[in-house]
Amino acid sequence: MLKVGIAGARGYTGEELIKLLIKHPNVRLTYLAATLENAIPISDVFPRLKGLIDLKIENFDAAKAADKCDLIFLALPHTVSMEVVPKFAKKNKKIVDLSADYRLKNFSVYKEWYHKAHKDKANLKKFVYGLPELYREKIRHAKFIANPGCYPTAAILGIVPALVSGLADKDSIIIDAKSGVSGAGKKVELGYIYPEVNENFKGYKFNVHQHSPEINQELSKVSLSKVNVIFCPHLLPVNRGIYETIYIKLKKALDVNKILGIYQRFYRQEPFVRVRGLGRLPELKDVVGTNFCDIGLVYDAAAKQLIVVSAIDNLVKGASGQAVQNMNIMCGFDEKAALL
Ligand SMILES: NC(=O)c1ccc[n+]([C@@H]2O[C@H](COP(=O)([O-])OP(=O)(O)OC[C@H]3O[C@@H](n4cnc5c(N)ncnc54)[C@H](OP(=O)(O)O)[C@@H]3O)[C@@H](O)[C@H]2O)c1
Repeated sequence: MLKVGIAGARGYTGEELIKLLIKHPNVRLTYLAATLENAIPISDVFPRLKGLIDLKIENFDAAKAADKCDLIFLALPHTVSMEVVPKFAKKNKKIVDLSADYRLKNFSVYKEWYHKAHKDKANLKKFVYGLPELYREKIRHAKFIANPGCYPTAAILGIVPALVSGLADKDSIIIDAKSGVSGAGKKVELGYIYPEVNENFKGYKFNVHQHSPEINQELSKVSLSKVNVIFCPHLLPVNRGIYETIYIKLKKALDVNKILGIYQRFYRQEPFVRVRGLGRLPELKDVVGTNFCDIGLVYDAAAKQLIVVSAIDNLVKGASGQAVQNMNIMCGFDEKAALL
């Protein structure tokens, strides 16, 4: 059994990791941590876990975590992960980092968007961007995974087939994205409290959201040229789920069935991407609580306008489910273990 720990186990992605990992056939949870004065049973934090797991959550101590685990999930805020990764790296432990600290490969881009200089340049290049649909072979041989962001996961999966097939005008891409409130983490802030969110719908950080450079980095990599998307996130009055409507101009008019065929072929072998038939758009209720990314297509031939809809659960395929999928690949387990 692989001994696994979670730092940040009291947060939203940490809770989701616990729920997935307690049913994993090849894993034993051996360490849970957050910021606590005294260790307490995890079932005191999450009563739904009573009788399912007998482990305490304690104050995070990287040295102790490294002693107790073969692999650690870092479900920590960005800028915190990079403080602790070197301690695990030195002890030769596997790491899946859910924060943004090891996703951007350019130090100055990281500083520009996360407002802090990167502290662990030595390990940055050792991290593999953990999007299995693009980098499965690299993940298989990796020790350190930078788990993708939630918005970027839905965006990249929705756009990549149109880009790599050469169909897309790469300068035309507009992402109209919506996220449930858990995407912001378990923090108390005016903009996220119930009366502000309930029965409301609002845009925020248009083109200045920290996920923009991540999306651009990955799309530029696959298209072998610079891509700059327009990225417009919105806050949905639901707990979880991401729904992105993505507008892509095509270079030339094409039969809609050919476009559908390109997407279906691209994801034919993928266990967690489902391309819907024409005229069938994804719905959040079909992906929430699952590790699936559902993709739907609409095409206007006269305008050469492709509209891709990409839907995921931000806490599962957008975070903890994808993190477990990455662990499964990295450790040689069934990729779908604990996820289907
Ligand atoms: N939420 C999402 O949909 C989502 C999706 C993709 C990626 N992510 C990323 O995943 C990471 C975790 O997100 P989240 O939504 O789970 O956040 P969260 O709900 O705010 O939880 C963060 C956890 O980290 C712990 N923590 C904070 N500072 C710490 C420190 N210095 N030492 C030890 N533990 C510390 C917190 O401890 P306490 O409980 O004691 O406060 C909490 O348990 C973030 O980097 C986020 O950007 C989140």
